[in-house]
Amino acid sequence: MSIAIPQELIERLAAARRVAVLTGAGISAESGIPTFRDALTGLWARYDPQELATPEGFARNPKLVWEWYAERRARIAGVAPNAGHMALAGLEQRFEQFTLVTQNIDSLHQRAGSREVVELHGNIARVKCSAEQTVVSEYAATETPPRCRCGALLRPDVVWFGEMLPAAALARAEEATEHCEVFLSIGTSAQVYPAAELPLRALSAGATVVEINPERTALSRHAHFVLPGAAGKVLPALLARLAAIA
Ligand code: OAD
Repeated sequence: MSIAIPQELIERLAAARRVAVLTGAGISAESGIPTFRDALTGLWARYDPQELATPEGFARNPKLVWEWYAERRARIAGVAPNAGHMALAGLEQRFEQFTLVTQNIDSLHQRAGSREVVELHGNIARVKCSAEQTVVSEYAATETPPRCRCGALLRPDVVWFGEMLPAAALARAEEATEHCEVFLSIGTSAQVYPAAELPLRALSAGATVVEINPERTALSRHAHFVLPGAAGKVLPALLARLAAIA
């Protein structure tokens, strides 16, 4: 089933110098990574994400939280970027400025070849000291979780519920959002702030806002264009239409 992409959208993209993109867990779904709210299937089904992805949850049960991220890290190591990630890497080449802001922590955009990637929620591949907040690349896994040289526990370098986003990443995301002509919101339920604020700020800054998601979300009624399909299908079609006219 081919995806209907309005000609008006293609023309606005063809005329754009700067494009900003916000992706969420939905773009990694076709790589086999459950979206965030499904990630607690099976073994983890009995836990609430707010239980595991929070500083309080880590303080209460550091071993459980460390093991949950270790399992997710292992699952991510075994998957590959999908056609949606690849199409975004292809789209990046077609614009003077293309800023890919992601809420995902799985490195799949970078593995697909995207270069200008802004990670709002950190990256599961990195660990940091829970006291000094500095990224640690080598550590002795003598206990679970391992400890920093300072003695504090190490933790995943991801943003947990209730934590601040990395200031530099958020500033880059906001700058791209305020100055783009087209903003694509892809595979996100647009529920978690401040990331969910970005498409609305693009809208008020005068950008054309496009949503790509098989489901409707809180953003749908605000977007100029809603493409109701899977990212792995819609994005390659978008890239092909753009290549055909430029
Ligand atoms: P969610 O799980 O909230 O939403 C995933 C969205 O992807 C839903 O709207 C789905 O309809 C959509 N979707 C599913 N399959 C898709 C596909 N093949 N193509 C396109 N869209 C598809 O995930 P996020 O919106 O990313 O933070 O959640 C935002 C944040 O909530 C996450 O970054 C997470 C959590 O706080 C961390 O893990 C740090």
